[in-house]
Amino acid sequence: MGPSPFIIIAIDGGAASGKSSSSKILADRFNLLHVDTGSFYRHITYELLRRKISPADHSAIIAALAEMKFATRLNGRSAEMLIGGQPAGDEIRGQHVNDHVSHYAALPEVRTTLLGYQRGQVAVARQHAFRGLVMEGRDIGSVIFPEANFRFFLHADPTERARRRENEGRQDSVAERDRLDSSRKTSPLHCPPGAVNIDSTFLSLDQVVGQMTTFIAAKLP
Ligand code: DC
Repeated sequence: MGPSPFIIIAIDGGAASGKSSSSKILADRFNLLHVDTGSFYRHITYELLRRKISPADHSAIIAALAEMKFATRLNGRSAEMLIGGQPAGDEIRGQHVNDHVSHYAALPEVRTTLLGYQRGQVAVARQHAFRGLVMEGRDIGSVIFPEANFRFFLHADPTERARRRENEGRQDSVAERDRLDSSRKTSPLHCPPGAVNIDSTFLSLDQVVGQMTTFIAAKLP
């Protein structure tokens, strides 16, 4: 028997749909690099806001992105994006970034910049001897890794998702971000054909991860 194949798991879904919690557990369970692409969009948004560059100023956005030096370091099992050697701070989860991230994430320039960086996480996972990676976001199964071994799409009722954020003590414009993320022209949030759709509204985290694990384990050698 040869070495186990490198596996890629894509998890997409709206804000607070349970992507982060479930993908972290899968990363532990299957020895995978965990990649939260939302944190990448947040980090870039924070940087652009700090430089006071509006999403409407395309030439300034292009120039700023060209200047940013991206790298990755491990934080436990998770890939952490560095910009100019700096990790993101807690501010990327704050209200200011929540309010603006979908506007920057809709820009093709931002998405193209992140496309190569996100695909490059395969090399990071291999370099650190992970068995594969689990990447969460909005367009992972549709655009970044359409050929992923496993593609999941998580749904949950917006009221339930707003409640989850409140329980975490966080304010978030869940419904508004979903509206913007689903209606943008470039790589909108949608469930790609062939992905496994899970409605987590009435499921516990254990149940969601249980469904995913059963599906994955059944197909692994
Ligand atoms: O997963 P999150 O809520 O932290 O993501 C923050 C924002 O980043 C989300 O509102 C839209 C954007 N995003 C995206 O457009 N594509 C991804 N693959 C991940 C996030």
